[in-house]
Amino acid sequence: MVRVKVLFVCLGNICRSPLAEAIFKKRILEIGLNHLVEADSCGTSNYHIGDSSDPHTISNARKNGILIDHRGRQLTSADMAYYDFIIAMDNSNIQNIVTVEGAKLYANKITLMRSYDDARNGSEVPDPYYGTELQFQEVFEILDCSVVAFIQFLQEKYLKS
Ligand code: 4NP
Repeated sequence: MVRVKVLFVCLGNICRSPLAEAIFKKRILEIGLNHLVEADSCGTSNYHIGDSSDPHTISNARKNGILIDHRGRQLTSADMAYYDFIIAMDNSNIQNIVTVEGAKLYANKITLMRSYDDARNGSEVPDPYYGTELQFQEVFEILDCSVVAFIQFLQEKYLKS
């Protein structure tokens, strides 16, 4: 069985995309599909290469029952080739992703995180960096909804048994 490979992408890879990755992995594990998917996250920038995730993201995630264990890394051309889904948090992430060498070949892999949530297609996941606890919680709830919708999409289109 072919595994579906998913890459969540934001700017710094310390707030939104590592949280999306962690929520996705937990929910996939809970429904017993972890042998069928793999996931990672990265940033379009080089600002936080090797860094732990933002402490506010880690503590908010923990409050919501999610453990984040990730080090920041930057998106590469090899990622674009390797992953099946390259899921951006906002439109500026997409603008940055398409500047990566070879990205044109993989344009059909790039989507917005909220596009899987029919009611929110076209909306962005806001950048919570330097935000309040309330804003981090809002990002958590947006990502949880979007990830649930994405998993449902995967189950309907790719993971039929
Ligand atoms: P993220 O948030 O893209 O969700 O990880 C940010 C983290 C760091 C910076 C910007 C956004 N920064 O400019 O360092």
